[in-house]
Amino acid sequence: MNPRHLTLHQLRIFHAVATHGSFARAAEALHLAPPTLSLQVKQLAETVGQPLVEQIGRRIYLTAAGRMLAEAATDVDERLRRLGEDLAALQGIEKGSVRLAILTTVKYVVPKLLGGFAAAHPGIDVAMVVGNRDALLQRLAANQDDLYILGQPPQDWDVQCEPFADNPLVLVAPPHHPLARERHIDPRRLADEPFILREPGSGTRATMERFFEAVGVTPRARLEVGSNEAIKQTVAGGLGLAVLSAHTVVAELALGELVQLDVQGFPLLRQWYVVTPRGKRLSPAAAAFKDWLYAHREQALAQVRQPAAARRARGRSAGPASTAP
Ligand code: PGA
Repeated sequence: MNPRHLTLHQLRIFHAVATHGSFARAAEALHLAPPTLSLQVKQLAETVGQPLVEQIGRRIYLTAAGRMLAEAATDVDERLRRLGEDLAALQGIEKGSVRLAILTTVKYVVPKLLGGFAAAHPGIDVAMVVGNRDALLQRLAANQDDLYILGQPPQDWDVQCEPFADNPLVLVAPPHHPLARERHIDPRRLADEPFILREPGSGTRATMERFFEAVGVTPRARLEVGSNEAIKQTVAGGLGLAVLSAHTVVAELALGELVQLDVQGFPLLRQWYVVTPRGKRLSPAAAAFKDWLYAHREQALAQVRQPAAARRARGRSAGPASTAP
């Protein structure tokens, strides 16, 4: 077959099928009726002369030919997007779009800056997705976004990382917890405490597990919850303790709904980085957004710094421990 006979419309449809892994979800994303989409994929397979997908149960798996086509469709899509940005750049940075992907913990900081950016650059659209560490690394590997804010990616990844902010992890408990008034608690005393854990794939969870492994404690998992918000409620309700990013609990600590336990080794120090694939050319809009993030981050981070400083002043803070990314 001659690939030049493929149409852009067909490629766009196949790109959506490959990205969503489901005909139904791809149809929804493209606002097409599912039978129309299936027919298009069938015609595409006829043009290519090979099956492109295999359906097992409700899931769609790409064949080798399907994977090649999906890769080409991604390249074409990316090229057209860059063309759009280059054309916009001819008119200055004030037009364009930015695709941003941030960690579940970063959503307590960065979205506060979007309003100011949108007001200063009304012609630039910012699309933001929020996910845990594993989800963001998958998006980064697939080059789905312009900018990522996450913990350091694996060492051997070909990416550019610029430090963005500290992400201290703290151990929180309900206000009347017996350990709430104690100082310099030995982490081994936590062996019998029930813990509410984040889901596998979460950087917060991985960091917590590394810490407890290093001190020879196996935390007792009471519940696994895939949301910082829900964990806070569960801890406040008295179900157990949790390790969470300090950025996520600023309000609850200030209101006294949660308390921070003074456990030796805490806070666990993590960092957030602005990450881009090395060699990726940032569009003028994305570059303007990145500059804005760095220029205004202090105002968004101030809240977490102030309580931490106040605690230090009261001599309550335990010595921080460094953690690998
Ligand atoms: P996560 O984010 O727990 O949502 O993955 C925090 C991190 O990776 O530091």
